[in-house]
Amino acid sequence: MSAIAAISNEKRQAIAAINASKIWSRSELSDWDRIADHMDSFHNHFRQTFEHVYRHAEDYRMLGLSLNSFLAQAMSLYTHLNMHHSIEERFIFPHLSQRMPQFAHGEQHTREHQEMHKGLERYSAYIKTAQQTPSKYDGSELRAIMSELGSVLMPHMDAEVTSLKGASLRQYWAFDELKSFPM
Ligand SMILES: [Fe+2]
Ligand SMILES: [Fe+2]
Repeated sequence: MSAIAAISNEKRQAIAAINASKIWSRSELSDWDRIADHMDSFHNHFRQTFEHVYRHAEDYRMLGLSLNSFLAQAMSLYTHLNMHHSIEERFIFPHLSQRMPQFAHGEQHTREHQEMHKGLERYSAYIKTAQQTPSKYDGSELRAIMSELGSVLMPHMDAEVTSLKGASLRQYWAFDELKSFPM
C-alpha cells in the first residue's frame, strides 16, 4: 500500500480546481486514463467469456465441446470474477476509498460486488450440480440464471471503469499521485 493518505475536503477541492485549470497534453491524458483502460481490459475478458457461455449454453456441442468441457469454461468465469473482486477489495479499493467514497466499504462498488455475488453463487451452484449430474443440465436454465447475473454484472463493470477514468480521478488526485496507485 502506498503512502497516499486521506485529505480534507478543502484540499480535495483545491486539487480538483488545479486539475481543472490545467491544459493536459495528450500523453498526460492517456496517463490519467491508464487505470480505467487497464480495468476495462480485464472487464472485456469477462464480457467476452460471459457472452460466449450465454450464447452457447444450449448449442455447445456445435463447438465440438463435451458438456464437461463447456461447464469447465463456464466455471472459469465464476473463478476469475471472484478472484478479480477479491483483488479489488483487498488491494485497490482501500487505496481509492481514502478519497473516493464510491469505493468505500458498503458504498456503491462493494455493494454492487455483494449484489453480484448472490447471482454468482447461483450460477456456480447450477454448474456444480450439472457437473455431478449431467442429466440435470438445461441450457435454457443456465441462460436464465445468467440473465439475472448479467443485469448486475454488466452495469457494474461499466460503472467501475467510469469511476476510474481520468475525468473522475481528477476530482480527487494530483497527477503525481497516480504513480503510487496499486495498479
Ligand atoms: Fe473490476
Ligand atoms: Fe469490481
